[in-house]
Order: sequence, then C-alpha cells, then structure tokens
Amino acid sequence: MFSRTPGQTQSEPRNHKRRDTQLALVAATSYLGFTVRHGKKGSTVPDFPILDGKRILLVIAGGIAAYKSLDLIRRLRERGCEVRCVLSEGGARFVTPLTVAALSENKVYHDLWSLTDESEMGHIRLSREADLVVVAPATADLLAKMAAGLADDLASTALLATDKPVLVAPAMNSAMWAHPATQTNIAVLMGRGVHRVGPNTGSLACGETGAGRMAEPSEILAAIAAFFDPLARGDGPLPLRGHRALVTSGPTVEPIDPVRYITNRSSGRQGHAIARGLARLGAHTILVTGPTAEPDPPGVQVIRIETADQMLAACQASLPVDIAVCAAAVADWRVRNMADHKLKKDRGEMPILELTENPDILATLSKAGPHRPKLVVGFAAETQHVIEHAQAKLTRKSCDWIIANDVGPSTGIFGGERNTVHLLRASTDGGPASVEDWPSLSKTSVGERLATLIAEHIAGSNTKAPS
Ligand code: CTP
Repeated sequence: MFSRTPGQTQSEPRNHKRRDTQLALVAATSYLGFTVRHGKKGSTVPDFPILDGKRILLVIAGGIAAYKSLDLIRRLRERGCEVRCVLSEGGARFVTPLTVAALSENKVYHDLWSLTDESEMGHIRLSREADLVVVAPATADLLAKMAAGLADDLASTALLATDKPVLVAPAMNSAMWAHPATQTNIAVLMGRGVHRVGPNTGSLACGETGAGRMAEPSEILAAIAAFFDPLARGDGPLPLRGHRALVTSGPTVEPIDPVRYITNRSSGRQGHAIARGLARLGAHTILVTGPTAEPDPPGVQVIRIETADQMLAACQASLPVDIAVCAAAVADWRVRNMADHKLKKDRGEMPILELTENPDILATLSKAGPHRPKLVVGFAAETQHVIEHAQAKLTRKSCDWIIANDVGPSTGIFGGERNTVHLLRASTDGGPASVEDWPSLSKTSVGERLATLIAEHIAGSNTKAPS
C-alpha cells in the first residue's frame, strides 16, 4: 500500500509481501528472465535516490508495449517507489493482473464496477493517493479519451478524477501517432500540463518503422526522476531562470537527390543531454536538432531540421539568447549540384558530386554583434591531437569555451552512453586557454555538469562545479 508502516523509514526494505505474492513473483520474474531485488538492501541500483518512497499510479493501457511496463514496475520498486497499477481491459490482454500484482507487490485495479474495489479503494482515492500518475503505454485511444474528458472505464475515470500530475508514454503505430487527431490530442494534453516522454523512432510491433515506439523503461524512469527533482520541479533555486539558451544537436542531413543523402554518425545524445541540463536549471531552452532517435527533453522547445542551412536559419531565428551550445555534428559540406530527381545508374557514367562548404553555425553565432550570446560553447570532435586542435578551433571560431572529445572509433563516443571530455576556456588576456580534464562520465552527467558551470559563469560566480 502507499502508506508507510509505522516505524518504517524511507530507506528500509519493504519486505511486507505475502507468501502467495512471493510465489507469483518468482513465476513472473523467471518468465521475464530477470531477477527482482526488493527495497534497497543489497541493491546495486545506484541512480535516482530521489525516487525512494514516491507513490506512482501506473496506468497500463492496451498496447504491445505493455510488456515494457513490467520492467518499469521492477525498476521503480528497486528504487523504493510504491507502485499501484490500473490495468485497462486492453492492457489485461497483453499482461496479466497476476504478473502486475506480483511485480508491484500490490493489488491491481482493473474494473470500475467492482464493488470490492470500490469499497476498498474508490477510483477517486486511487487517482489521488499518488505523487505522480504515469500512463505507459499511452495508446491513441486512451490519449483521445483523456483529451476529450471521457470516463468509461477505470483507467479513463481515474485519469479524469486525478488532481495529480500526469506523465504519458505514448505507444502506437507511426501513422496513428502522426495522425492530426492524435497530434491535436497530445497538444491539448500538453497544453493542460500533462508531461510526455517519447515516443521514440524505431521498428514497431506492427512491422513498420517510424515514430511511435514507447520510450524505454530507463527513459521513463529518468523522466519520472526528473519530475521529482526539486530543481526540475521548480521548488529549488533555478539559477538559469529568466535566461534563454540555444543548443544544437544531432547530425545534419545533406541531400544528394530526393532519396540519397550525406550524413554522419552523431546520435544527438550529448546535445540533448545538455539541453536537458540547461532546462533543468530553469533556462528557456531551444533545441535545434537534426534527425535523432533521442526523445524530446522535457520542458525544452524542440525545432527539427535536416540541413545545415536550415539549422543556421533556425538558430538565427531563435536569437537573442544568453547561452549558445553548438553540439551538433554539422556536415561540413553539402552537394552543390543536388539533383531534383533520383540519379539513375543506366546513364553509363558515375555522377560527379560537387561539394560546397556549409555555413559554420558556431562561428556565425560567435561573431560579435548586438545578438552575440553572452557565452558561446562549441565542441571539438577530434581523432588526434585533441587539445591542440580544440585550442585552434576555439581561436578560429571565436567561441568562449570548447568541449574537446576524442571521437576515434575505439572510444565508442558516437552512439555511446559515456563521454570523456576536456573543457577549454578562452583566456581573457589572449593567452592559451585553460584546460580542465573531466573523468569519464555518462552523457547525462556531462550535460548536467556543463549546465552547472554555465549557470555559474552567467551568475559571475567563481564556485566550482560538483565533481
Ligand atoms: N560546427 C558548426 N557548423 C559547422 C561545422 C561545425 O556549428 N558547419 C560546430 C560544431 O557544432 C562544433 C564545432 O563547430 O561545436 C566544431 O565542429 P567539428 O566537427 O569538431 O569541427 P569542424 O569545424 O567541422 O572542423 P574539422 O572537421 O576540420 O575538425
């Protein structure tokens, strides 16, 4: 149950499950192929201590992604969350109430008309005795009901009755996701303050590929933790509140003809993490991004582009900003003689691609002028002489700081989770830049650490960033 038993502290393991639940849990977890650790004792889970003791009402709607919600329940329980689940009728076709009950170690609610449920815990109480309501998977149907205010089953009734914040993780076929009806529903819900994580782009259960894949359990977990983070929630001091930040991220895509293009291996993970870090500190953050599979960072204004020219135009349209961070892997060249039809092989000769240099967005933003941001940060992706080349780029592009990283194939940085970087800050007296070597960190931590240093710089503070 959600209430803590007397004498139980937040960090104590919750070993109050009944024997029958234990047996069901063993069956469920061996079926899923993972082991559940209860509470925190002996746990090796290092992240998101903020989740300990939080009460989550998880609404599982009828989509194939419901199986991922089982993993989400496990992760929430491992971090000390109390999880209570509502299973829609459709949801119960994909995962069984027994499995959900076993993993959540709680009764599962699925029938609005159950007298037993209503006498034990009415749907109004159910929807209010939580710190956060999470809908995962959020199907097109349930999103439509939420937008329209329909309440014809327990899931939709609880969502209409709740006075608690709601986070949705949409999951559906890409055409359903792209449909104007769904997009309107999502816009209505977000306008009402509903939070969203995903959907991601990738292969879908229906055999198609596109946007509509439910965010991974780790991403939903991170979104839940971000929600409870006092900084993200606005309860703590938000050092960048009132400041505008612009971040570029991902690759650019330069067309050769209507079906072929030139691009690079950037995943956008680092740029998105920086945007997340800046927004978390209260900055009004605009993320201009090439195509990536990364979910939109919460609370960030996202502008999607494809080419370097479009990226530059979107950045210039976003000015003035106080902070600009150029993390995008902008293609250095585009095809000058782009064909307006598909190039054919049967002409007997190989096409000659004429390349022309793309605009340098970092150098353009760094140019002195009335709209120059107070702080311009670039990246230097290098495969050799990392610091020397980064120093040269700092001077050549007239930015204030450069994050240098070795992107050689052996480092696994492109597409990887971690990054080892060096921060170079231009000296004010024309001397060599200062160099700070950072340890290997997750890209999220690099984003948070950089955002902290930026906030300190903007505040004119000399305080050191946490290591
Ligand atoms: N950059 C940019 N616009 C470009 C090229 C690069 O804004 N047309 C930015 C990147 O976002 C990054 C920095 O410039 O912040 C350095 O990018 P990098 O690819 O390391 O260097 P290049 O300038 O492309 O130089 P080179 O390829 O010779 O290393």
